[in-house]
Order: sequence, then structure tokens, then C-alpha cells
Amino acid sequence: MESSRLLVEGGRKIEGEIRVHGAKNSVLPILAATLLCGIRHTNSGNAGISRTRTGEAGISVIHNTASLSDAFAAMRILRSLGCEISREGSTVTVCSANAEGDIVSDGLMHEMRSSIVFLGAILGRVGRCRLSFPGGCELGPRPIDLHLEALRRLGVKITEGHGILDCTAGVRPLSADITLSLPSVGATENIMLYSAVGSGETVIRNAAREPEISDLAGYLIKCGAKISGQGTSTLVIDGVPELHGCEYSVMPDRIEAATYMGAAAITRGELMLTGVRPADMYSCMSVFSEMGCGVYPYDDKIFISARKPISAVRTVRTMPYPGFPTDCQPIVMAVLSKSQGTSVIVENIFENRFMAAPELRRMGANIKAEGKVAVIEGVKTLYGAPVRAHDLRAGAALVVAALGAEGQTEISNVHYIDRGYESIETALSSVGADLRRI
Ligand code: UD1
Repeated sequence: MESSRLLVEGGRKIEGEIRVHGAKNSVLPILAATLLCGIRHTNSGNAGISRTRTGEAGISVIHNTASLSDAFAAMRILRSLGCEISREGSTVTVCSANAEGDIVSDGLMHEMRSSIVFLGAILGRVGRCRLSFPGGCELGPRPIDLHLEALRRLGVKITEGHGILDCTAGVRPLSADITLSLPSVGATENIMLYSAVGSGETVIRNAAREPEISDLAGYLIKCGAKISGQGTSTLVIDGVPELHGCEYSVMPDRIEAATYMGAAAITRGELMLTGVRPADMYSCMSVFSEMGCGVYPYDDKIFISARKPISAVRTVRTMPYPGFPTDCQPIVMAVLSKSQGTSVIVENIFENRFMAAPELRRMGANIKAEGKVAVIEGVKTLYGAPVRAHDLRAGAALVVAALGAEGQTEISNVHYIDRGYESIETALSSVGADLRRI
């Protein structure tokens, strides 16, 4: 299917104010977590766990849900499992009272790789789950060994074959102490989801500390879960017999915010971002400051002013939170393409995350990328060119580069960008950019 394209006329200064939407990486696990509401776990000794519905208590009202194709894919999965969903603006109401499904279809799994986060939630709700192995994606192999190893430690029986994962909840240990060999965001979420309901205490060591993990914990706690240690690398989840629904507002998207900061920086503009949480964004803000931008956080706002030419920065290394986020790396690469001096980026999280580099080169950037390292020799001018988004953030990086380029850029494969940005063209047009979808 031919997806839409973005036509960007470069060289317009970004000036104005943008309100940042709710975070994609937060709303997906929260939508999965709604499945855990309205079910009661009773430990029946040798007979295992019985799960009974508690009726109306299974309703969650989730505010600040951005219109993203990934969020819509998550809603389709919930519907396919038996949830009723309604949406009004950015508020999504999920009633999971009748959710009995235990299968995520191959089509839905392929639509969104992060649908693996439904595994812990479905298992927690119905005690079984069958889904196809997510496999690789644009960023590289994306294994899920840590998810599966941890679930096995929690008594889940898993068979893998012909690309299918078949999981059945077994007897859960009264206490489980799980140390992740690396702080995987998805594995931490799946363990939290599976452990939240039922008896037993689960400790996750070397847990991911991303703010989106704390947001998921915040939602679960509001539903009645007992979780402590969020924001640290040791999470303790004390399973409870049941969760009720709640009303919750998704945290702001720090990657969307960083993308718009990139747009302001590359066009030498000035932008006020509202509805953000600056405390989650220190590593990003410091890179933009080092580029020579004025970055002024206060309350729920960040003001960025790029009056001086962009300068090269010391080596940027992507790291788990609170380090520099891998999702912002392509954005920063785009801005540094048009800077004074040479910068180095080391990508430590994903194997294949310099997908923007060849496209940026078509626009005149001087980037050498090999393995984990990219060397960016800043150029004075980027030029518009036909380019292609190869993944979500690489696509957003091309939008940023196009705004700072001379002439017209045509970006194809915009469906990747739509996975994580609610109408990027509307947000950027409102602050002076010239871009439209065709
Ligand atoms: C999440 C984010 C993604 C972000 C990434 C890192 C969502 C929906 N996606 O992805 O935007 O780029 O965190 O901040 O929240 N790994 C293993 N085995 C596993 C799991 C992961 O080896 O079982 C490796 C991965 O290959 C990768 C690294 O760990 O190299 C980080 O992955 P992880 O933190 O799990 O990322 P995701 O949850 O997939």
C-alpha cells in the first residue's frame, strides 16, 4: 500500500508554542494493563489460581491518549480480546469486564512490534496467551529472551515453535527475585503486568528506570496495585487479588518534545513547549544546550531559543534512562548534520539505529556510520531531496532535517511517523513550518 508523503519546504523559522501530546511509550503498556481490571484471583491451593470476573469494576478512563497509529493498533488488540472501547478526543474508555480472549492474531502482532507488552497482561487476566513471536524489526533483531525467562521464573509454562509462543500460567512462587541482565523496558513492563494481580511478591532488579515505567506503575497503583521502587532499579510488586479500573492521565511524550526542540534548533527558531515534564528530559536538554541553544525549563514548560549557529557536541552516547535516549538519537543526528564542527554518536541500545544516515546524506549531510559509531561532520547547508522514512524516529529526523534544508524535501513512508506523532504536520505548521501531507 502506498502510504502518504510529506512535502516540506525548508528554511522557515520555527516560532511559537506547541502543546506536547501523551507519551506513546506510556499509553501502550497502560492500554495493555486495562486488561487486568475487573478480574479476581483466588488461590485455590493445588487447583491453582481461579479467575472470576468482578463486573463493572473493569472500566478505565485514560486521558491524554494521543491519536497515534500504534495506540489504535493497541485498541484493536483490546477489542479483539473482548474489551469495549470508546474514544472522545484524547480520552479513551476501556471496559475490560468481558475480555476473555487469549490470542493476539498474527496480523495484529505484526502491526505493532510492541504488542509483546500484551503478553503479561493477557496471562494475568485469563491465565493463557498465544501470540506470534514478534521477530525482528527495523531496529534489528529485538529479542524477547528476558521477558520469557522472567515469566518462566514466575511459573509460566512457555512453548515456542513455528513462530508461535504458547504460554500458560502455572503455580506462582510466593516470592520471586528476578535480576534482568540488562534493564529492558519491555521486559520490566511484562513482569510488572503479570505480577500485579495474584498472590506473591516479585522483585525486579536492574529494572528499567524510564519515566514510562513509573507511569505504568502510577496507573496500576491507582487501580489498587502494590508497587514500590518506581524510578529506581529495584521494583517490588506485591500481587493483589484484584484491580479496579481508574481514571488516569498519560505522561507527556518526552521524545515528541525533543523532536520539536530539534525543529527549533535546526531552523534557528524559538519554541515554547507546554505540557512537558522537564525533569524527565535532562539528558536531552543538556545536548541542546551544548549545541549552543538556550534551553529554559520551568514548571511544565521548556523554552528553547536557537539564536546562535549550532555547534558540534562532545560524544553523545545512548544509554538506558537517565542516559541519553536512543529514540532521540536520530533527531540529534539530523540537527548536528547542520552544525559547525564534528560530532560523534555512539548507539549502545539498538544494533541498527543509524537508518536516518543514508537519507540525511542524500540531503547533503556528511555522516560516516559504522557499527555503533556515527561521525557527523557538520555542513553549512542541507538541501531538499526525495527521502524515505525507514522507521519511526528516523522518519521524524528527516522531518527535522527537511525543515532546516534549502528547498523542498519529499518524505515517503510517512506511516512510520504516524506511529508516534499525532499529526506532525499540524503541530509544526502551527509554529511556522511549511509542510503538508500528500
Ligand atoms: C522500548 C521503547 C522504545 C525504546 C526502547 C529503549 C516502547 C513501546 N518502546 O522498547 O521506543 O527505543 O525501549 O529505550 O516502550 N533486549 C534483549 N532481550 C530482551 C529484551 C531486550 O536483548 O528480552 C535488548 C534489545 O535488543 C535492545 C535492548 O535490550 O538492544 C533494549 O530493549 P528494550 O529496553 O526491551 O526496548 P523495548 O521495550 O523493545
